[in-house]
Amino acid sequence: MNKIIKFTLNGDPIEIACESNLALLDLIRDKIGLTGTKKGCEEGECGACTILLDGNPVNSCLTLAQEIEGHEVVTIEGISKGGKLHPIQDEFITRWAFQCGYCTPGMVLSSIALLNKIPHPTEYEVREAISGNLCRCTGYQKYVESILAVAAQMNKEAKV
Ligand code: FES
Ligand code: FES
Repeated sequence: MNKIIKFTLNGDPIEIACESNLALLDLIRDKIGLTGTKKGCEEGECGACTILLDGNPVNSCLTLAQEIEGHEVVTIEGISKGGKLHPIQDEFITRWAFQCGYCTPGMVLSSIALLNKIPHPTEYEVREAISGNLCRCTGYQKYVESILAVAAQMNKEAKV
C-alpha cells in the first residue's frame, strides 16, 4: 500500500509517497535520485548500500522505506559541507585507499559512524567497524590506515 512518509534526508525535511515493499535503497536511488549509495548484493552482505540512520550505519537494501518515518537519514551526498570533503574522504584520496570506488561511499559512512562513537579506535575496532563493507578490490589496509590517521589528527586538533 502506498503511504506518504516524512523524514530528514541529509539535513532537509522530505515528504514522499512510497510502496510498502520499497527498499530504502531504491527510494534513495530511484525515486530521489541520489545515486551515491551503491547497489550491490541487495541481501545485506556487501555494505555498498550503507547509509546512516540516526547516526548508525545501516544496510539500506534491507530497510523498508516506510520504516524510516520520522528518522534521520544521511547518505554520502550529505557528508561534504559547503563543497569541502569530510576528512575521511580527503584521507582516502590522499592515501589512494580505493580503486574502483564502488565500496567507498559505504566505507566513508561506516568510518564516520565509528569515529563519532569511538574517537580513539584501536585498529581492531576500525577493522570491526568496516567488516560489513566488502571491497572486491581488496584495498582494506589503506582504508584502515586512513581511518586511524584521521582519528589521530582529530584527537590532536581536539587537544590544541
Ligand atoms: S546492497 Fe545492501 S548489503 Fe549489499
Ligand atoms: S575499491 Fe573497488 S570495491 Fe572497494
